[in-house]
Amino acid sequence: MEDLPHVAEPLFQLEDVSKRLISKAGETVILAQLSFTIPRGSFFAISGPSGSGKSTLLNLLTGIDRPSSGRILFEGKTLNTLSENKLAAWRGRHVGIVFQFFQLLPTLTAEENILLALELGGSLPHRRWRQRASECLQQVGMVDYARRLPSQLSGGQQQRVAIARALANDPPVLVADEPTGNLDSRTALEIFTLFEQLNATGKTIIYVTHDRDLAARASDRIELLDGHLVHQHSALKVPVKEHQA
Ligand SMILES: Nc1ncnc2c1ncn2[C@@H]1O[C@H](COP(=O)(O)OP(=O)(O)OP(=O)(O)O)[C@@H](O)[C@H]1O
Ligand SMILES: [Mg+2]
Repeated sequence: MEDLPHVAEPLFQLEDVSKRLISKAGETVILAQLSFTIPRGSFFAISGPSGSGKSTLLNLLTGIDRPSSGRILFEGKTLNTLSENKLAAWRGRHVGIVFQFFQLLPTLTAEENILLALELGGSLPHRRWRQRASECLQQVGMVDYARRLPSQLSGGQQQRVAIARALANDPPVLVADEPTGNLDSRTALEIFTLFEQLNATGKTIIYVTHDRDLAARASDRIELLDGHLVHQHSALKVPVKEHQA
């Protein structure tokens, strides 16, 4: 093999991953035999029109849903055959999720939303929670807003808090489903830039976006159309693994 100075290690590997739904009307293919790799440390953008399967794919990657066929590997280990409990434990340790509509708990302050994530994640002893919440708010530029309720924050500020919450248990992967879809273009760019900064600290970012200009800034990108992978680009070189039957 040629000498590659920046060979990226695969973090996720998808092998012929399909999602099919069966109803009275028959079988619907939501995702059709997707095979691709998400390199460790990449900024991986997923784009495609509404209904193309982007959120379904994220649900498979985060183990919220399982494929109908095919394999998903994380650090070389099969994810989709883990039990529900093991999968939930894996998700808690490895993935932070950011949503389009922020999904902060409205009766909890910014800080309390993060404390709850720390309680659920169980990554740190109780005595370290306050300090960690403060660090996470600091990282997204929201430390002065710790005591505010979500309703007392702008959309961009709520999304920053939601990102801080996703960082709480220090997961190696951040997954975001159109996190700027509900924000004006200037705020959207600020939030995207924040994800780029987090990527620079070593987090792998998996980012769904409709915005072609933003997707073009990602190190890696795929495009879906009707559940099919129609375009793929990677700036990082990943060693091709022999397909195993
Ligand atoms: N639980 C479900 N039952 C039936 N159909 C579903 C279900 N979930 C998703 N679908 C269908 O699967 C397809 C892909 O949906 P998905 O939500 O993944 O698309 P998307 O690319 O995220 O779209 P958007 O950009 O609008 O968020 C759509 O046609 C949708 O109607
Ligand atoms: Mg979606």
